[in-house]
Amino acid sequence: MKSYITTPIYYINGDPHIGHANTTIMADIIRRGREFYGMDTYLQTGCDEHGQKNADMARQLDMNNADYADMRSASFADLFNRLDIGYTNFARTSSLHHACCVQDFAMALYRRGAIVKKPYTGLYCRGCEQFRLSSDLRDDQCPDHPSLKIETIEEINYFLRLEPYRQELIEWVEGHPDFIQPETYRSELLEMLRQPLEDMCISRPKTRVSLGIELPFDSDYVAYVWFDALINYISQHDAGAQIPGWWPNVEHFIGKDIIKPHGVYWPIMLMALGVEPPAKLTVHGMLVGPGGLKMSKTAGNGINPDDVIGTVGVDGLRYYLAKNIRPYGGDTQVSMDMIVQTYNADLANKIGNLITRTAGLIKRRFGNVIPDLNGSMSSDEFNMLKDVRKAAGTWWDKPVNLHDIPGIIEQLIKSADQANRYIADKAPWKIDNDDQAGHVCRVTLSAAILIMIGLIPVMPNIKHVLEKIGAKTPMPCISPSVFNLVKENHILDETIVPFKKVVI
Ligand code: MSP
Repeated sequence: MKSYITTPIYYINGDPHIGHANTTIMADIIRRGREFYGMDTYLQTGCDEHGQKNADMARQLDMNNADYADMRSASFADLFNRLDIGYTNFARTSSLHHACCVQDFAMALYRRGAIVKKPYTGLYCRGCEQFRLSSDLRDDQCPDHPSLKIETIEEINYFLRLEPYRQELIEWVEGHPDFIQPETYRSELLEMLRQPLEDMCISRPKTRVSLGIELPFDSDYVAYVWFDALINYISQHDAGAQIPGWWPNVEHFIGKDIIKPHGVYWPIMLMALGVEPPAKLTVHGMLVGPGGLKMSKTAGNGINPDDVIGTVGVDGLRYYLAKNIRPYGGDTQVSMDMIVQTYNADLANKIGNLITRTAGLIKRRFGNVIPDLNGSMSSDEFNMLKDVRKAAGTWWDKPVNLHDIPGIIEQLIKSADQANRYIADKAPWKIDNDDQAGHVCRVTLSAAILIMIGLIPVMPNIKHVLEKIGAKTPMPCISPSVFNLVKENHILDETIVPFKKVVI
């Protein structure tokens, strides 16, 4: 079974911010989860290096386009490496094979008669690098880029006709309930498809946009940046050829801001060539700052992922974002205070505390040798472990979707509460009998191990804590026998460092 997962390719007109980190982390969590389920995964992320915004920024820094693109793409790749994103491929639209694929794609559409040349006057947003309809605007401004002025632009361009495919696309969306998730964004897409579709402009005259891929049928034009960028999802595999087993078995992770290019333009670009649309668009809302404004480079209200990493670590950031996925869509408010609060409440006070007190007791009383069970478990103990095993085992039981993640996390945190209550109630430090005290430690430690196993896709570094506990990770732990969680030597490492409270 194969799972091909993509993130958007990000504009390089600034440094990566937490919004870019967010989508890429989501995609990586799902990739890791699908691997636990036994799927063969391919995760692609990357950078969108053409278009006027990027060219303008290179000029501002007095750099040539190629050096500028190398520098910025490297900073995205570097951040994603530090965020433990296990990507298979980092796509760059400046690569030669991508340019060839875009040209082949455009030529194939042109030969099929799907492209027309005509004059067009429209409202243009430089932030989106798109013509917008007046109905898209709020107070005459682009809702995503309220600080930029909408311009009226008139020019002759090449267009892909979308309207002939509208009905086919509606039927596709209606016939594939999973095509776009969650439901709220599916309704949004169907709403967009209710009106006749304007043709998609696929070119920019070189006189206005210098940085792009030349159209193969007219050297005065480059491909419009969105037409070029969407093709990255196939160009990286083998310049437009069929991708055995990977296409159309693809899941595009996107923010709600780019539903139209992915839900309308991209499927129609493919349909127009007789290629099946992607299997799935997984859409999330925006991370918003105070006042509900989308965090972006243009608005200048983004949080620097490095500041977050410096305060709560990579896993702390991944955890916050995963916990705050809105399963039914909608935006997520984020601030450094909220991230630290969540870290302290869940990771330090609940999970960290559970590990520290259990490991501390095992150290003091049993010389770090993990004690065995003393006879069989009570039904309460058994049920507690059964619940946590069930939550952790979700990754193994089914291909997890983005919207399942907050539920899994919630259940694991409930289990941490339950295990903390269990050890507090049993108070093994007050029990004289070593076997009985050891039993409580062993049950608590088993719960802690299962909780951490369930968090591995979200927080891959938790594996290091598990190693110090001597846990067998990851697959065999989810055997029905929850007591085979620790390795044969049963020795705790002295240097377990779980999550410690952060003060800012
Ligand atoms: N280059 C295009 C995408 C082309 S894909 C074929 C683009 N780039 S972008 O840099 O603007 O990235 C947009 C995406 O980044 C969003 O759809 C979302 O996935 C992520 N985010 C950017 N800002 C975000 C927030 N404030 N909040 C959450 N995600 C955000 O559009």
